[in-house]
Amino acid sequence: MSTYIRIEDLHKSFKNKNEKTEVLKGIDLSINKGEIYGIVGFSGAGKSTLVRCINRLEEPDSGKVWIGDTEITALNKKQLTERRKKIGMIFQQFNLFDSMTVFKNIAYPLKLVGTPKKEIEKKVDKLLELVGLSDKKNAYPGSLSGGQKQRVGIARSLANDPDVLLSDEATSALDPVSTLSILDLLAQINDELGVTIIMITHELEAAKRICGKIAVLENGVITEKGNTRDIFLDPKSSTGKIFLEVYREFRQEHTYSGGGGI
Ligand SMILES: Nc1ncnc2c1ncn2[C@@H]1O[C@H](COP(=O)(O)OP(=O)(O)OP(=O)(O)O)[C@@H](O)[C@H]1O
Ligand SMILES: [Mg+2]
Repeated sequence: MSTYIRIEDLHKSFKNKNEKTEVLKGIDLSINKGEIYGIVGFSGAGKSTLVRCINRLEEPDSGKVWIGDTEITALNKKQLTERRKKIGMIFQQFNLFDSMTVFKNIAYPLKLVGTPKKEIEKKVDKLLELVGLSDKKNAYPGSLSGGQKQRVGIARSLANDPDVLLSDEATSALDPVSTLSILDLLAQINDELGVTIIMITHELEAAKRICGKIAVLENGVITEKGNTRDIFLDPKSSTGKIFLEVYREFRQEHTYSGGGGI
C-alpha cells in the first residue's frame, strides 16, 4: 500500500490578544489509501485542529499536507474549493439544516456544484439506501434519532464521491448501540467505496473496532502511532496507557463474566 495522505512538520498556533498558544507542534503522519486511521487523545490535545488543518478549515502556520499528488497547503483559494468537494466531513453535532428535509440535506452539496435535478434525485436515493434511510427521505432532522441524523450527515458527506472522509467525533453524541451501527456503517463505506477515513475520537473502543492504525495525540504532539492492535497490547505513551486503563476498568465494571483479555 502506498501513502495517500501525508502530513509533514505541521505547526498551528492560536493568538488571543497578546498570548500565543501552540496547539500543533510539528505533526508528521502518513496514511495509506483505503485505510481507516484513528487519531485519539484527550480533550484539548489538538485533534480537531489537526483534522481541520487537513482541509484548511484552519490555516496551518507551517508544514505541508499532501493528498495523493496534490499539496493541499500549496493550493490557492479556487483550487482549494475545488479539491474540498472531494473531502467529506462529518461532525459530532451532525450540522444538518433543521428546516430542510433529509432529501434536501443530502442534495445540498450536489446543488452547490450545479448537478442536474434528475441526477440529484438518483444520487440521493442511492445514498439513502446506502445509509439505510430510504423511508426517511421526506422527514425533517427534528424527527430523527441521533443515529439517524448521523446517517444523514454521512450520506451528505458522500454526495460528491469523496476520496477522503474526515470524521470528527462522529459517534461521541450517540448512545452505545447507535455508536456501533455508525462505526459499522463507516467500515462498510470504507470497504465498498474505498474511501480513506481519518477518524478522530476520544473513545478507544471506537478506534479499536474499525481503525487499522491509530496515532495518539498528546498536547499537540504525536506520542505514538502504529497498528491499533499493537498499541492496545502495549501502549508506550502516557495517554495510551491511561486510555487502556480506563477502557479495562470500564469493561470490568460492565461485564458479569469477568471480561477477560482486552
Ligand atoms: N479558534 C481557536 N482559537 C483559540 N484557541 C483555539 C481555537 N481552536 C482550538 N483552540 C485551542 O486549541 C486547543 C486544541 O483544541 P482542539 O479543539 O483541537 O482539541 P480536541 O483534541 O479536538 O479536543 P476535544 O476532544 O475536546 O474536541 C485547545 O486548547 C483549544 O482551546
Ligand atoms: Mg475536538
